[in-house]
Amino acid sequence: MSQNTQSGPLTIEQRNNLRNLAQAAAQHSYSPYSHFRVGAALLLEDGSIITGCNVENCSYRLTSCAEQGAIARAVAERGPGIRLRAVAVANLNDAASMPCGACRQTLTEFGDDATLILYPGEGGSLEETTLGELLPHAFRLEYLAPK
Ligand code: THU
Repeated sequence: MSQNTQSGPLTIEQRNNLRNLAQAAAQHSYSPYSHFRVGAALLLEDGSIITGCNVENCSYRLTSCAEQGAIARAVAERGPGIRLRAVAVANLNDAASMPCGACRQTLTEFGDDATLILYPGEGGSLEETTLGELLPHAFRLEYLAPK
């Protein structure tokens, strides 16, 4: 799936499309333990959209979140230079959910403070924020090799 490369704020149609694709991705969730079916859709700077879902494991701690699956897939399909313009998270449980702490760090590797995050709030509200709001003062690649 791809859209034209654009800059500036996402249109309401683009936001809704990204949310819908995250919701659709959640249909493939493997979540026999939590039964919490999560999907994520990444809008990359090149305009392409990559989705993922959570994949749980009987060890519990090896569970992969939807956002992490989507990032791994995006890198595998598009290469290490991917950059995130926006991320939508959705679930099939009619619950509020936003990226967990680990996912915020994972997204920060390929996004920046302005990366738009779309997520469901309480009572089915459509919420949005930025990665910078979710993970201020993040640990970043540049700290490993200061100039
Ligand atoms: N989960 C995600 O996929 N993304 C998040 O950001 C939060 C949690 C998944 C992990 C687990 O499979 C289920 O939701 C319950 O925590």
